[in-house]
Amino acid sequence: MSNRLIRIRKLNEDSMAENETLKAVGAKPASSNAAAPNPTPAGVARAPMTELETLVRARYPLIYVVSWEEQRVAEEVAKVAERLGKRVFEWSATNGLVPYGTSAQSQKHKDTATTDPLIAMDTISSYVEPALYIFKDLHPFLKDSNIAIVRRMREMASTLKNTYKTIILVSPTFSIPCDLEKDVTVLDFELPAEKEFTALLGRIVEEVKANPKLDVSQVPKVREQIVHSLMGLTLSEGENVLAKALVRHHGLSEKSVAVILSEKEQIIRKNGLLEYYAANEDMSSVGGLDELKNWLQKRTVAFTDQARQFGLPAPKGVLLLGVQGCGKSLMAKAVSNIWKLPLLRFDVGKVFGSLVGSSEENVRRAIRVAESVSPVVFWVDEIDKAFRGSQGSSASTDGGTSARVFGTFLTWLNEKKRPVFVVATANDVTLLPPELLRKGRFDEIFFVDLPAAEERKEIFRVHLTKRKFNLEKFDLAKAAEVSDGFSGAEIEEAIVSAMFDAFYEKQNLTTERIITAVTQTVPLSKTMSEKMIELRKWATGRARSASREKYVSAHDQQNSQKENV
Ligand SMILES: Nc1ncnc2c1ncn2[C@@H]1O[C@H](COP(=O)(O)OP(=O)(O)OP(=O)(O)O)[C@@H](O)[C@H]1O
Ligand SMILES: [Mg+2]
Repeated sequence: MSNRLIRIRKLNEDSMAENETLKAVGAKPASSNAAAPNPTPAGVARAPMTELETLVRARYPLIYVVSWEEQRVAEEVAKVAERLGKRVFEWSATNGLVPYGTSAQSQKHKDTATTDPLIAMDTISSYVEPALYIFKDLHPFLKDSNIAIVRRMREMASTLKNTYKTIILVSPTFSIPCDLEKDVTVLDFELPAEKEFTALLGRIVEEVKANPKLDVSQVPKVREQIVHSLMGLTLSEGENVLAKALVRHHGLSEKSVAVILSEKEQIIRKNGLLEYYAANEDMSSVGGLDELKNWLQKRTVAFTDQARQFGLPAPKGVLLLGVQGCGKSLMAKAVSNIWKLPLLRFDVGKVFGSLVGSSEENVRRAIRVAESVSPVVFWVDEIDKAFRGSQGSSASTDGGTSARVFGTFLTWLNEKKRPVFVVATANDVTLLPPELLRKGRFDEIFFVDLPAAEERKEIFRVHLTKRKFNLEKFDLAKAAEVSDGFSGAEIEEAIVSAMFDAFYEKQNLTTERIITAVTQTVPLSKTMSEKMIELRKWATGRARSASREKYVSAHDQQNSQKENV
């Protein structure tokens, strides 16, 4: 199945290669198919469902379209059918097999006999005319336990190959019994493009412009903004959101954009894997990590049109690897803020759904949503934890789903064309597959170590300032000195703990109190020193240091001084 997916994606890129590929699998190339209209010349922009057309012309018998948008898929199928001179039928569990466009209310067109999927298949077999059959409700039947249906589908796959008939399954998630994997070709249905939302907006404006209670006179001025904010939604979601925006402000104007964006947040949240993250942090919230800061700062203008005209490629992403609590996640939030791009957090922990296949679809949908709202910062926090499933024993227990999910993800990292900047963070390199670390996935791998003395001083400064303390009253150098081996998170905790003590005793916060809190804490670097040394060793030569000043523990410093003496 995954091989096919990869091939289909390639089909989209080059129609010359496409014909070669089709020949290789024993199918007829587009131009030699009797039912085919003029083939699309290479390099010409293609309609969104041209892949479907290609597959239909090449007589792929069973096509599985993954989409929530039944109606839009049906419309696209109808367009393809029209071009190829074929009829279209729709099958649903309530209406049976009926000609496309039969309204749900139209009882006389209902074909109750064919509501049974097996009978529907028999009916299709008996028809001779070229046709496309859209199956809306077949996916719930496609289970290993439904032996008769699985068998019938396999038979259909082999008989339809020699006909001009194609079955198209539409389902929001991809899930099929493994018996069918080789017979079914999966196709992702793209979310609506800008053009489609422009048309939708145009239609809505036409419908409401005569209504004196609704003002749409501002639309020409804000059309682009509104359309852009709708990207990433399905067409029906877009329609609902626009209706809500219309009602909220008695028309459409600049204010509608905020309504659309907040609705979009809700919808994206429903996906479960993506979350809009409102980040307040900027670079002044991060102490130290100056090399990484510089690198990011230099790329602030990278997503502008001028940068593209200059010939600069959009940055792909960074992997921040390092010690716990040293600001990796903080940096991901800060970068979205300084680049003024939205931050989408991708929850890798939730990737694995209970159904094999549905997790793959979830990842694909998350990727598509991210691309549709690009330019965007795509934050994959703790990627190592997710990769744990793609290796070793668990890979064999879940039927290879995790490996496939990450295959999809890795391919996307390499090939993505849209300006989606990936910030991935990880603690444990041993869990990361070597493929992830290979050149080309990320622009750079940064190693984030424990903060050196000067950096600790800065982190104290950041957190005391954030809590509105007067810095002049503190000896930051002293605090930095005693907190050797502390992470940024531990420094913050020490400050908070000292504040609690001071508040309880109705006293002011002082350096001494902070030092007391520090000495009462055993930092992670003490309990996990072995692991950190390993990580540091690994990073040397393989990753770029995020800080100019290298962290050397006071203990190591003393040792090296002794050796020198
Ligand atoms: N360099 C830093 N400057 C300022 N604050 C920091 C720094 N590093 C850590 N902190 C503080 O510690 C908190 C936790 O840090 P963060 O979540 O970024 O760590 P992390 O590197 O992602 O750790 P983990 O590997 O455990 O996910 C931050 O929200 C911030 O308040
Ligand atoms: Mg983190």
